[in-house]
Amino acid sequence: MSEILYDFGTGRSDPSTFPTQAIQAAAVAAIGREAEALTRYPGGLGHQRLRELMAEREGQREGVNVDPEHLIITNGSMQAVTLSAQALMQDKGDTVLVEEYSYPGTLSAYRGIGLELVGIKLDEGGMRMDHMAAELERLESEGRRPKFIYAISTYQNPTGFIMPKARRLEMIELAARYDIPIVEDNCYADVHYEGEIEPAIFALDDNPKHIYLGSLSKILAPGFRLGYIYARPPMLEKMLAHRHDAGSNYLASAIAAEFYKDGIGDHAAVTNPVLKIKRDLTVNGLADQLDDICVWSNPAGGLFVWVRLPDDVDRPKLWQLAEDNGVAYLPGVAFHYANRNKPYLRLAFGHLTEDQITRGIPVLARCIREARTSNEARTFTSLFEDED
Ligand SMILES: Cc1ncc(COP(=O)(O)O)c(C=O)c1O
Repeated sequence: MSEILYDFGTGRSDPSTFPTQAIQAAAVAAIGREAEALTRYPGGLGHQRLRELMAEREGQREGVNVDPEHLIITNGSMQAVTLSAQALMQDKGDTVLVEEYSYPGTLSAYRGIGLELVGIKLDEGGMRMDHMAAELERLESEGRRPKFIYAISTYQNPTGFIMPKARRLEMIELAARYDIPIVEDNCYADVHYEGEIEPAIFALDDNPKHIYLGSLSKILAPGFRLGYIYARPPMLEKMLAHRHDAGSNYLASAIAAEFYKDGIGDHAAVTNPVLKIKRDLTVNGLADQLDDICVWSNPAGGLFVWVRLPDDVDRPKLWQLAEDNGVAYLPGVAFHYANRNKPYLRLAFGHLTEDQITRGIPVLARCIREARTSNEARTFTSLFEDED
């Protein structure tokens, strides 16, 4: 395998913005102040001050009150994904509704615990409610009411799209009609470049069944392994009943709480403009190189651009060519709820240097052209039409 020169595969923020010195100082202060607490097990909810800060984060963004006593600090939001699914699932083979293309970590966690995935078609506004309504009706007629709906409603991974408020309200209405909880994964909401942020589902509906998942991975660093669940009683107790690990890393929590003692805004103001430049380089590079044969998303936040390939790209050949030329990306199949090999790829732009993006996109573009069986111009004008 050749050396990876242009790693568009992994979704993480820019390492050069990691605040090493401030984290070192926060660690010294946190250890000094919290030495005694570190000698104890943290317990189910986790670090009090970090919960308060994350409640403030959510409350300020959404304009609603968030009770820190309803926040459970987890080992990354990945633990929150798994824990919430375990708490909501009753039997193996239970059904969950997911976006047709979704985060591979969630898909594999759900498959791993025995959930059956039903994919809801996407467009530029996220899950299509006409399709969700039809699928709910079909499943109901088969006696298979889903145990929950999993939605990445803001800067969706992999497509980057935001679900508009009107559609969120429609989803809330459908969920209420069938009495199904929504698990809202909002780990990208603060990785924001421009435009309005639509309100989170929990801010639009106070139904205590809905569960909200957050993370520090995308705004600080995944190595901290810190995320959280926001769940109101009685869901809160249900989540806690499935937790058997004596709590999350208290040291990492104490350091993050110290670093963010004045809120998350200051650091986001440093990282988001850096990421926005990379988003621009990625989409501008695609426009220069692939406008005649591909279409792609232009996300207002998050870390990914979703690219629709021509149908006649030999996808195994593209993978091989990209690998030979030092380009990594994730193919459509990795995100498909049923592992179908679809003509897409995801480009993660956050952690590459600007130079790597500028040089890498033309290399990828050459590989795409070489992997085609024709030179024909594209026949589609949007991301989700006529996919084979
Ligand atoms: C939608 C989504 N949810 C959850 C996660 C897990 O993140 P973490 O466990 O690092 O918080 C990711 C990571 O890429 C993600 O994209």
